[in-house]
Order: sequence, then C-alpha cells, then structure tokens
Amino acid sequence: MNNTYKLYGSVLKGTPFAEITNGEAYIPYSEDLSVLGTKVNIGKFISSNSIEYQPMEGQDALTDGSPSPQTIARYTSLAKGGAGLIWVEAVSVCEEGKSNPYQLQITEKNLDSFKTLVQAIKSACIEENGFEPIVIIQLNHSGRYSKPTGVPAPITAYFNTDIENEPKRIITDDELKALPELFSKASKLSILAGFDGIDIKACHGYLASELLSAFDRAGIYGGSFENRSRLFKELIEASFSEISLDNIRAARINVFDGYDSKYSFGQSKNGLYDLSEANMLIDIIKKNGGKLLNVTMGSPYRNPDVSRPYRNGLDKPKSDAIFALYRLWNGAKEIKRKHPDLKIVNTGVSLLGALSPYAAAGAVTEGMTDFVGFGRMSFAYPDLARDILTNKFDSKKVCVACSGCSTLKKNVLPSGCIIRNDYYKKVFQNFKKEQG
Ligand SMILES: Cc1cc2nc3c(=O)[nH]c(=O)nc-3n(C[C@H](O)[C@H](O)[C@H](O)COP(=O)(O)O)c2cc1C
Repeated sequence: MNNTYKLYGSVLKGTPFAEITNGEAYIPYSEDLSVLGTKVNIGKFISSNSIEYQPMEGQDALTDGSPSPQTIARYTSLAKGGAGLIWVEAVSVCEEGKSNPYQLQITEKNLDSFKTLVQAIKSACIEENGFEPIVIIQLNHSGRYSKPTGVPAPITAYFNTDIENEPKRIITDDELKALPELFSKASKLSILAGFDGIDIKACHGYLASELLSAFDRAGIYGGSFENRSRLFKELIEASFSEISLDNIRAARINVFDGYDSKYSFGQSKNGLYDLSEANMLIDIIKKNGGKLLNVTMGSPYRNPDVSRPYRNGLDKPKSDAIFALYRLWNGAKEIKRKHPDLKIVNTGVSLLGALSPYAAAGAVTEGMTDFVGFGRMSFAYPDLARDILTNKFDSKKVCVACSGCSTLKKNVLPSGCIIRNDYYKKVFQNFKKEQG
C-alpha cells in the first residue's frame, strides 16, 4: 500500500508531525483538554471522565495466575492516575491458553487474590481522585500465542500457509465446543471478584480473533462468516448470560487484521479495512446486551505497525505510523457512527507522545469516540489522566512510543516502561547485557 497522504488538523500545523505528502489522514486536535473530563454513562455505571487505560499485560502474576504484590502495586499506581475506565489486562481462562507463565488466570482457588486486586484499584482511585473507576476484566485464550511454560505451545485455528510451512496443533471442534463453559465460569468468577464488567477478547490474533479468518477451515468453525464467528458468538452468549444486565458486557475486537495474507479479517480489496463483518460481530455483541466496545486492529506479533504504531527511536513518528493511527481512529469513528448506542474506546494514541492529550481531546470533541484509550502511555505516565484534568500535564513524562515494553513482553520479562520507570529500565538493561 502506498501510504502517502496529506495531514491536516492543527495538531500537525508547525509541529514535528507535519510530514505532508498526498492523500488524506486526519488526526483531530483540541487545546481544550477539559473535554476529557466528560462523564460517560455505561448502563448504570458512570465513568468520571473520558480517559481509559488500556489492557496491558505486565507479566508479573504468580504462576497459579493470581496477581502478585507487584501486579497489585502496578494497578494501584495506575488507579491513582485517575482514568475513569480501567481495563485490566488479558486474563487467561485456562492454563494451556496462557500467553506466558506469569499471565493472570482467574480460578475458584485464587478468587480472593482477584478480590484484593479490584479492591486495591477502587480504593486507590477513590482515595487519590475522589471517585470510583469502572474496572473491566479482559478474558482470553491465547491460541496461537500460548506459552504457558515460557516455551511456545501454539494452539492454532487453522494451518496458515502464509506464516508456517507445517501445521501446528490445530484446535479441534470438540475442544472449541468446551470453551464457552470455561469463559462463562471465568465471567462468573470475575463478577464475584468485584469487576464491574467483562470483556470477551477477540483481537490481536489470539484464538477467538484468529478463527475469524479461518476461511479454509473445514467443519462448523470455518468458511462462512457464521462458522468463523461461531466461537465468538458462543463465548459472548455463554459469558454475557452468566452475569447480570447490571454488569458491563464488553468486548475488544479486531475490526481489521491488516495482514499481508489471504487470511486476514476485515480486509477490503484496496488493502484498507472493510467493516461489514465487524459490524456483524458487533450485532452479536449488542443482541446479547453488550454496551462497551474497544476497537482495535492488527497484531503485536505479525504487524505491530498496524496495532500499536511506534517510532523506532525516532524523534517524530514516520508518516506510516501517523497513517496507522489515522486508520485505527477512523475505524473506531465509523463504528461509533454506525452503533451510537455502544460506548466506544479507540486506541493507538501513545504514538503522539506530548501531543496525545490534544489529539485525544479533539477525538472526544468531534464525537469520534467516547473514550480515548491510552496503552503504552499508561505504563510511562500512570498519572496522566489526573494530570491532564488538573492542568498539570507534564510533557517530559510521556511515552516515547519506543515499544520497549513490548520487547520485555516478547522476552517473557515483567513489562513496563523502560524509559520512565527505573525498575523496568534495569530489567531491560540486564536483558540486553545477557544478550551480549
Ligand atoms: C506490553 C504490552 C502489553 C499489552 N497487553 C495487552 C493486553 O493484555 N490486552 C490487549 O487487548 N492489548 C494489549 N496490548 C495492546 C494495547 O492495549 C494497545 O492496544 C496498544 O499498545 C496500542 O495503544 P497505545 O498506542 O496507547 O499503546 C499490549 C501492548 C503492549 C505494548
């Protein structure tokens, strides 16, 4: 794809982002950051502001899946930061679907440790900011990216000839049929733990997401949209019906994979996204009482440039990265237009660093989204939301979009900001030393 385009919007005027070529990529801008203090209703819940902290796996849980003291400290610090909506990272529904040995996993046995986590989040935010945040848990099976003992143990949706020469373990129909029960159990436990809502994750190439592109899979989970989305539908039905309508029913979905492959969900013929099947997934979510949708694209494993645009050590983002952010935000905007009854979270803003609050304010002002989601930025600058809303935003504390946190994640190390946080900086330095 030829990513040449014209950038407009005052965020780009006279700023390092003004890499103007031809075409079109709109990033909104507003200097009135107070708009980020707009409250958002989700059913009976009210978020105190329009800032969301995205799910970010920290890889610091105990091996039985419970949050460790380090996990709790990380979330306490995030909660003090004052986002109205805190989306807790991917939590596995089973041992073999863990993305790493230190991923969270909710079970009957460790339920109390999750209660402690939720309590810590809520009380830290109330104490520091005077309001209770909305806390969502993300439930997942890592599928192709399962690594429960630290060694890859992929469980794939199909033999993807574009990325592998030989088939890996392909999950059977019978195994898929057993998954809704695991998700519904985890959903029930999550509400008992005190979470306000649950997210059924179908993004970034993990199992439910990968099945959406199982065009060639034989049987009832492959081929037609109805078959490819069967697992997702069953997970949504089983999990949402397990929790009260008073709880928030949410999902994080890939509306576009963007893989250079014949197996790519949401692909249009011109290389851009086609949201028609994503809209059908959203209809499933809504039909089952879904109220909140976190819109994302791409995969951190296969096309991180689509999923979390980064700078690669550059002072300013390259035009491709700006285009990727435009695509993420525009996709979310189109979904918001089509489904005004859903509350939407968009993603990718950390790319913009010191300018991200202004672009976020622009997005909310223009009704492109209900929440602006901050991922890597929340690792770098946990106090961001509070600082924005109390006029204390400090551009020296921002994420530089180097994606060093992802390097830690990839190497099964505790993940956090290697630039702004001394602990993770050390972890990164030691890792580099060991590598020679
Ligand atoms: C270290 C790391 C861990 C992540 N963990 C999760 C996760 O648990 N669940 C999820 O849906 N996305 C996860 N993501 C993706 C982020 O939520 C977000 O979509 C991405 O970083 C882009 O947003 P940003 O530009 O604000 O960082 C992770 C990203 C990184 C870098």
